[in-house]
Order: sequence, then C-alpha cells, then structure tokens
Amino acid sequence: MHRAVSEAVRLLTAGDIVALPTETVYGLAADALNADAVAKVFEAKERPSFDPLIVHVPSKQALHDVAEVPESIKKPVIQLIERFWPGPLTIVLPKKPCVPDIVTSGMPTVAVRMSSHPIFKRISQSLGRPIAAPSANRFGSISPTSASAVKAELDGRIPLIIDGGACLHGLESTIIKIEPAEPKPLIIILRPGPIVPDDLKQYGRIQRTDKRIIDQPAEAPGQIASHYAPRTPLRLLQSPRDFIPEHGKRYALLSYRGEPRDGYVDLHDWEQVMVLSPGNGKLPEAAVRFFYVLRELDKLGVDEIIAEPLHEHGMGIAMMDRLRRAAARTTFSR
Ligand code: TXA
Ligand code: MG
Repeated sequence: MHRAVSEAVRLLTAGDIVALPTETVYGLAADALNADAVAKVFEAKERPSFDPLIVHVPSKQALHDVAEVPESIKKPVIQLIERFWPGPLTIVLPKKPCVPDIVTSGMPTVAVRMSSHPIFKRISQSLGRPIAAPSANRFGSISPTSASAVKAELDGRIPLIIDGGACLHGLESTIIKIEPAEPKPLIIILRPGPIVPDDLKQYGRIQRTDKRIIDQPAEAPGQIASHYAPRTPLRLLQSPRDFIPEHGKRYALLSYRGEPRDGYVDLHDWEQVMVLSPGNGKLPEAAVRFFYVLRELDKLGVDEIIAEPLHEHGMGIAMMDRLRRAAARTTFSR
C-alpha cells in the first residue's frame, strides 16, 4: 500500500485525479486548490458545473485554510468537529478566497469534511493540501462502495484507483449547515447520512430537509432529486398493498430483512429478492450493503426494482432519502 499512497500523492501533486477509499463511499480526488485538476473531476464524472464538490482537509486546523468560521456559530462548529472529525460529517461554511469557484460552483460557501479512512488520511496528510472529492461515480449514478464499483463507473477515465476494500459506512457523509439562533443554534441537515439527527441534537435544534427533495434544488445545488439512481426504474412502496404487478413485467425486490412476515417477500414471484440485512434487520449493516445491492439489482435487467420502505430512524433516514431520490428520477424520466 505504501507505493500506492506515494503514487496517489505524486499524481495529485501533478494536478491529476485519483479514486480513493473513504469511510463513506469512494471519492474521486483532486487538489482542491488547483482549478484545472478539479475540472478533470467534473469531466470524468460528466458532472454538471452547478453541482459543487466537498473539500476534505488533512486536519481539523486546516478547516481554517479553506473556510471562515463566523463568530456567531463558532461554538457549535468547534464542538461538532471536536466530536465528529475525522468522520462522516460535512459542514457548509463561507469559503476562503483561495478555494477556486469551480469547486463551489461559484457559491460563496464551501462544504468541508475530514475523512477518517486510514489510506485517505495518509494521502491527504502527505499531500498537505485540501482534496476536493465527490463520490467516484458518473453523475446521477449509484455511489461506489468498493474499488470494483469505481472501476465499473470510471474505468479508462482515471489513471489510478486505490483499493481500500469495502467502505465502513456505505452511505455518503451527512451534510449540515449551521445558523445562529437562540437559545440553541439551528443545525440544518442538507443531506442525511451516517451522523444521524440523534447524534447532532445536543449541539442545536435539528431541521431536516430530506423529505422536501422534489422541489428544493436551490437549497443544496447537488441535492437534486435525480441522484443515486440505478438505470432500472425503482419504485418505493409504502405498504405491500401498493404493489399491483403489470402482466408480463419482471420485478426484483429490494428487501430490508427478507422476512416473509414483513409482507413483501411472498407478495409476488420476484425475479430476485436481495436483502439488505438478513435476519433481524440492522440499519448500519443495511447501509453498508445498500449501494452494492442496488448495483446488483440494476444488473438484472428487470423492468422495475421494487423497494420495501425502511424504518425511518438512524441510518434508515439516509437510506429512505436515497430511495426517494432514485424513485423520483424514475418518475421524472417517464
Ligand atoms: O461522503 C461523502 O461526502 C463523499 C466522500 C467521497 O467524501 N462525497 C460525496 O460527494 O458524497 P458528492 O459530490 O457526491 O456530494 C457532495 C454534495 C453535492 O451534491 C452538493 O449538494 C453538496 O455536497 N455540496 C457541496 N458543496 C456545497 C455547498 N457549498 N453548499 C451546499 N451543498 C454543497
Ligand atoms: Mg455523489
């Protein structure tokens, strides 16, 4: 791994791009302060320029190199990074002038996090500069949680993919912004992820935005409904009664626990049933397998993927968010 790390640092220093593991999903990395390097990320992903990137800093202190921390929210910001960094929490703050406009899509704010992945950390620390890294998939597609998934998405478009095994969390970081308020600051969750509302609530009043996905593109430019979608149409059920098969169509089931008593497994003669967390159903385990299972279901070539709803607490909030977006894309493109 030592050689891979130094090769990644060499490429990044030279203004090239590299796919790297993080604790959430694989990222496609570039030197965040080099606009030409960042442009290569947009090109490889076919990402529209209005969708800003997350900047990963090598240390907590380095936050101040790329972002301003306004006095009015200094206390919660410092508390949150002391508690959750390095880790899957991204904070949106006013940007410093050194951050090129291409990174933030011309916005005055920048989204910052510090990854806890040992390989990412080593690369980031030896580079000694902030790294811009979106998820390493084609725009609008399923995020990669393994090196082979990155290869399926971007093979031939990037010079190096570092294989760090499967990602620990399996879902993208939680993105928040903080507004001053009395008696407690307001923590607005722009994208739900592994740091769940219960983890955050002691630091402020929580506002969720994930159920308003269909009409809120202005709020977080990249949080448009079409994200995280398989190519196969996906339908998210509210209850087993909602499913009425059409004659001659082939369906696959995305099941939470694979339990017949939940009412979905025996509902139909499914082409295939894929289970997120067999047995008792554990949300963190389901999250780790989530994008992998979606990717596998997408390969079947069925007419529609039917998804069971998940418990909407903990990591279930983030998975339901991704399922709603995938389903919304289906609705839009019909
Ligand atoms: O876990 C993660 O966050 C992964 C790993 C690689 O770090 N990265 C990731 O990046 O998910 P990406 O590009 O797939 O999603 C980043 C999202 C964008 O869609 C955008 O909505 C939001 O971050 N974002 C970036 N800058 C923002 C800003 N200034 N204000 C609001 N949202 C922003
Ligand atoms: Mg992404």
